[in-house]
Amino acid sequence: MAEEKTFYITTPIYYPSNKLHVGNSYTTVAADAIARFKRMTGYRVWFLTGTDEHGQKIQRQAEAAGKAPRVFVDEIVAWIKELWQELDIQYDDFIRTTDPRHKEKVAQIFTRFYEQGDIYKGKYEGWYCTPCEAYWTERQLEDGNCPDCGREVELIAEEAYFFRMSKYAERLLDHIEAHPEFIQPNSRKNEMINNFLKPGLEDLCVSRTSFDWGIPVPFDPKHVIYVWLDALSNYITALGYGEEDSIFKTFWPADVQLIGKDILRFHTIYWPIFLMALDQPLPKTVFGHGWLMLQEGKMSKSKGNVIDPRVLASRYSSDALRYFLLREIPFGQDGIFSLENFITRINTDLANDLGNLVSRALTMAERYFDGILQEPLAGDENSDTELRSLALEIPAAVETYTNDLKISDALAELWKLIRRSNKYIDENKPWELAKDPANRGRLGTVIYNLIESIRFIAVMLQPFMPRTPESIWQQIGLKDCPELQGWSSLQEWGAIKPGVVVARGDDLFPRLNLQAEIREMQENKPAGKSTPEEQAEIQEGLISLDQFQQVDLRVAEIISAERVPKSDKLLKIEVEIGNNIKRQVVAGIAGHYQPDELIGRQVLFVANLKPVKLRGVLSQGMLLAATTKEGRLALTTVDRVIPSGSRIS
Ligand code: ME8
Repeated sequence: MAEEKTFYITTPIYYPSNKLHVGNSYTTVAADAIARFKRMTGYRVWFLTGTDEHGQKIQRQAEAAGKAPRVFVDEIVAWIKELWQELDIQYDDFIRTTDPRHKEKVAQIFTRFYEQGDIYKGKYEGWYCTPCEAYWTERQLEDGNCPDCGREVELIAEEAYFFRMSKYAERLLDHIEAHPEFIQPNSRKNEMINNFLKPGLEDLCVSRTSFDWGIPVPFDPKHVIYVWLDALSNYITALGYGEEDSIFKTFWPADVQLIGKDILRFHTIYWPIFLMALDQPLPKTVFGHGWLMLQEGKMSKSKGNVIDPRVLASRYSSDALRYFLLREIPFGQDGIFSLENFITRINTDLANDLGNLVSRALTMAERYFDGILQEPLAGDENSDTELRSLALEIPAAVETYTNDLKISDALAELWKLIRRSNKYIDENKPWELAKDPANRGRLGTVIYNLIESIRFIAVMLQPFMPRTPESIWQQIGLKDCPELQGWSSLQEWGAIKPGVVVARGDDLFPRLNLQAEIREMQENKPAGKSTPEEQAEIQEGLISLDQFQQVDLRVAEIISAERVPKSDKLLKIEVEIGNNIKRQVVAGIAGHYQPDELIGRQVLFVANLKPVKLRGVLSQGMLLAATTKEGRLALTTVDRVIPSGSRIS
């Protein structure tokens, strides 16, 4: 039997000191996308996440909240698990450092280190940063503050156990140099070597006596084990390290350990040294990604300037949030989170590119063939060949980039196929083909190719945005065809069987109005948290050219009009907006115009409004009209005849 391919990926275990923010979600969403991708491409995956629950910081916060530490963390952990559920995080295990399975193992690890002479007892005198749970020497402080987070440090002097880091420093340096993939991205590697390893590693203090919320040192219980030794061990205790028949043998060493760059030192110096002392192989890659920043600086739980990912996911969908996080920030670099960037991504990439492709293709399939997929004609035209060869190339590119942890690039590749498919519609003009029955075979082929391309896109979207493909399967009639949804189905173009019935559903991503969203989110935000730019926009009501251009204004010709039954205000009007594309709108103008006098008029029309039903009648847009305070009304029009569908800008 071929050997099973395994893949072990971890996230940091988060401090449940407060609710997580969108920056913490970033690491976990990335890990989930990679884990899903590996599952789809044939690996047996283990994806671990969890919470880091001990330490002085948590103890102090629990005290401030008037709760026992365990009660305090239980509440936050429940919230975190709900968050991961809402973001479709499919982890295989969730470890809590308060789990007995973890505590027992950490105590054994500590004892082993002591017995083999790696840990000794001494006296600690130095500086401690509680928010980072990190020790610093006088020399390392910056302006007397923590060099990592810039906050105050405390002078502590207590009896403590120490780990002989220096004993392993040389070996670690050799390992880092011999394994260029160990610390990623590369730029971070030199920082670790030059700032920490080369100047000489100091022994690390690994116990505390000034608080008791931690795992006691088994042979000296007035000490608790330093939180980073406790926390880092989670990556192996969760696998059942030290137990017969555990999955430890299957999955260790980890393939990818994802962390933020803030905790790189702990993961690329202390963690590998602990593993060396345990005679265990080191993780293959520790990847330190950048930070998600707000315009005013880094987002952080302890600074309180955070964005709640649950609010974003419930308003805009978890897929939209996942897409934004994965696409916007090249993995490894810092990126800015702003509502404006987020909404713009939704409108351009998701609503315009992806959403429009699906709705255009399905609308045409329904209009011209009652939704029944036709047998494509033999023989390609140019655009067919291009579309097909791109579709067959892109999966390999997505695969390479995702394996290299370049998720943003993987998505950029996938979007090439989405954009190419939209271009295929424009090139083949199905509405023109539809005018001549002689072109029916070609029209059926074009629509078939589009649906097949949409299938390719949906397959590849799955690891990154797991919900959207579900809706696409439903719409393109492949809900019950798992064999057409897997990664390996991308080797063959033309796998969908003619005769499948497609049915257009709700738009995947309705377009959003940026101004309205900013206003809405502002109302939900604690006072004083908006950026100066947001404030200015809201106070003055100014919009950018970009925002104005989001409204798709067109010249439309009225081709029919009639009263809506039982309403004295509403008319049901059909307009043509070029290329024989017709839209039905319900307009409140029955008191101002007779239906007959409207026929043939050219009016201004908003073409990208979300459809609504008025009195049960579908309205797919809006006619623009001027009104006076007294209620007089005039439709707006153009001052000379111009082709219907012309854009107004
Ligand atoms: O450090 N942008 O936990 P933590 C991107 N318990 N990622 C961010 C971020 C931001 N603005 N803010 C946080 C701890 N993160 C320890 C870890 S592991 C054995 C112990 C992410 O709750 C980033 O991955 O402070 C960072 O490393 C992690 O959240 C830290 O979360």
